[in-house]
Amino acid sequence: SQDTVYQATCTAPVNIAVVKYWGKRDTSLILPTNSSLSVTLSQDHLRSLTTARCITSSTSTSTSPRDRLWLNGDEEDINEGGRTARCLAEMRSLRQKIEADNSSLPKLSSHPLHIASENNFPTAAGLASSASGLSALIATLARLYDLEAHGVSQSDLSRIARQGSGSACRSMFGGYVAWEQGERADGADSVAVEVAPASHWPDLHALILVVSDKKKGTPSTAGMQRTVATSALLQHRIKHVVPERMDRISRAIRERDFDQFALETMADSNQFHAVCLDTVPPIFYLNDVSRAVIQLVTELNRASGRAVAAYTYDAGPNAVLYVQEKDVKLVLDVVLQYFPQSAASFPDPFATGVAPTGSK
Ligand code: PMV
Repeated sequence: SQDTVYQATCTAPVNIAVVKYWGKRDTSLILPTNSSLSVTLSQDHLRSLTTARCITSSTSTSTSPRDRLWLNGDEEDINEGGRTARCLAEMRSLRQKIEADNSSLPKLSSHPLHIASENNFPTAAGLASSASGLSALIATLARLYDLEAHGVSQSDLSRIARQGSGSACRSMFGGYVAWEQGERADGADSVAVEVAPASHWPDLHALILVVSDKKKGTPSTAGMQRTVATSALLQHRIKHVVPERMDRISRAIRERDFDQFALETMADSNQFHAVCLDTVPPIFYLNDVSRAVIQLVTELNRASGRAVAAYTYDAGPNAVLYVQEKDVKLVLDVVLQYFPQSAASFPDPFATGVAPTGSK
């Protein structure tokens, strides 16, 4: 037969927020209750790798394509009306418009997609796997459908990635990235923007301390919903804390002021977990080991008379420590001294990535 296979592969890195996104004002479009800011990590250690394939056959142009998706080797359902389905529909409709204007292009939009994605790190353990996964999906489909050559911008793609997983919109860019909450009801102005490129502050490293690689207890979607519905502290955070913190941390990044960057990063992680505790019923993401790491970093910074490391935790117990290059060895030595068992239980206990870098 006359089958032609079209295929594209992309990777996308994880991003770790220093000002956390927690709360949606629109759950369907995924519009946040506050702006957030993150660092996109190097792809060498934490990344999603996605391949999308589309087979056009001369004998059948399927009218109701059934897309299929494999995550880390296992097939997953693509729920109708779900987020993945929505992203696929948005990408397909962009391709459809381009095909309508260019009759010579193959009609990829009318054929099913087969997508395989894998992470080289624990999935859904609070290590931002949804950010890299959805971002890799959008980047791969954009390549398969040749969207960028036809005028679709990185910002347009970030807007679609956002609808797959909020934090994914930030992984569409490398370096230091803000997700501006926006004001519009249609979400057109709720997009990720670059605060500074990776090259601006290249000697910042992210040390990932894997405290547990188990799936997290409360998924972020359910957790956010509960927090928005019940936490008074969240309302205080949205109105009186995050706007000023976004300004201060952006300035710290522009001025490469690690002390200020560390202060704001740790304060924001603490407030995010306080907001979780303020939720009814409360959400606990940190465990005893997470709290011991917080104490260790606090003591190390106090004894050093300056910020040596900045901790931050997402929706799970694993610590991410931002550290300047000159201090990486010191911090690793101290952590291994206090948690010697970590060297034995994980072959590669600390995935150290030079943060940040480009997104593709
Ligand atoms: O995009 P989601 O639904 O995986 O939510 C991510 C939420 C946090 O990781 C806790 C914070 C953030 O800004 O990444």
